[in-house]
Amino acid sequence: MSEIVAVYPGSFDPVTNGHLDLIARGAKIFDHLIVGVLQNREKAPLFSAAERVEMLREVTRQWPTVEVDVFDGLLVEYVRRRQARVIVRGIRAVSDYEYELQMALMNRRLEPQVETIFMMPDARYSYLSSRLVREIAQFGGRIEGLVPPVVEERLRAKVP
Ligand code: PNS
Repeated sequence: MSEIVAVYPGSFDPVTNGHLDLIARGAKIFDHLIVGVLQNREKAPLFSAAERVEMLREVTRQWPTVEVDVFDGLLVEYVRRRQARVIVRGIRAVSDYEYELQMALMNRRLEPQVETIFMMPDARYSYLSSRLVREIAQFGGRIEGLVPPVVEERLRAKVP
């Protein structure tokens, strides 16, 4: 059997403990897990793609089979280029499902050879999102336990 390469795509602006929980689970299942950071977004991100990649590399150092990369354009094109067979997406609650199903089916239409696999992070992270973390940090709220310490530091430096 050939190696199973999976791509875990996202904005990761910034990486949260929920993302990390999913990466840990994915690293146990797939031979190679590529965390794909989306570069082009209509809305300006808080962290540049380079900063997001840097933080992700730092917090995923413990997993030798996990790679952090940046991608641009269509996800399925990137998945094809990386010779991956699987897209991993996290589902926290039922509310995530509708959008995720739509994306998964559209990606399947674009590239039938690629399977999307949904994984659930630990229930502790079911209400956690990068958007909320950014908002809380911007208003000076407590973000301990929501993001890795290195991200906490970066957020504090970004939003004094
Ligand atoms: O972390 P996010 O913002 O929920 O991730 C969304 C992401 C990056 C997975 C999605 O926006 C994406 O795949 N963008 C790349 C462009 C693309 O392929 N769009 C068609 C999706 S059906």
